[in-house]
Amino acid sequence: MKHKLKDGRVVNIVPLSAKIPAKWLLDYINGVIEEDGYLQYDKPFNMKQQKEWITNTIAGMRKGEQLYFAAVSGKRVIGSCSARREVGRGRDNVVIGIVVSKDFRGVGLGEFLMEKTIAAAKKNFKPNNTYLYVAGSNKIAKKLYEKLGFEEFVRYPNWWIRKGKKIDSIGMILKN
Ligand SMILES: CC(C)(COP(=O)(O)OP(=O)(O)OC[C@H]1O[C@@H](n2cnc3c(N)ncnc32)[C@H](O)[C@@H]1OP(=O)(O)O)[C@@H](O)C(=O)NCCC(=O)NCCS
Repeated sequence: MKHKLKDGRVVNIVPLSAKIPAKWLLDYINGVIEEDGYLQYDKPFNMKQQKEWITNTIAGMRKGEQLYFAAVSGKRVIGSCSARREVGRGRDNVVIGIVVSKDFRGVGLGEFLMEKTIAAAKKNFKPNNTYLYVAGSNKIAKKLYEKLGFEEFVRYPNWWIRKGKKIDSIGMILKN
């Protein structure tokens, strides 16, 4: 589907499929890793890892365990949002992940992708708990999550390392 951003740019939002070139996904994720944009991962991926990730994620989507929407602009992936069921006894818990490329932030894409993914996850997974983890110092992401109805439910102190400092990891759960 086409989606118009607040600045007038139009992006295409599509479920992950083999039609999206692996290079576009690799450049996208490594771009955010290189700017140290609060991802769990801090080392760039290579093409082999990227292709394995695509295969595994598409398999998870087919099994009804995952959702992954990519936002595409021209020949780039510039945003994504995922929802993944936990396994076994945690199967009714769904964890959300969101990333927007730097030059597409602040124009409503993250919020739109999350709303779309959460709605699809509710329909597909009927989750008991929808949650995510965010770095304590990631004020922008926390603001977005609070706007969407997430609340802190757990805090792991000094859990992650970023720019040489220990930072908290906060679990936030969707309340509505
Ligand atoms: C966090 C992130 C996904 C937000 O996406 P985005 O597309 O820039 O956000 P949006 O433009 O949709 O903004 C939605 C809301 O987020 C908050 N927000 C976004 N940018 C903000 C900023 N610069 N300052 C404060 N709040 C901000 C606001 O509440 C905003 O709502 P508003 O426009 O009504 O004020 C994006 O910054 C990102 O990908 N960052 C790097 C990776 C990351 O941190 N991922 C999350 C890891 S847990």
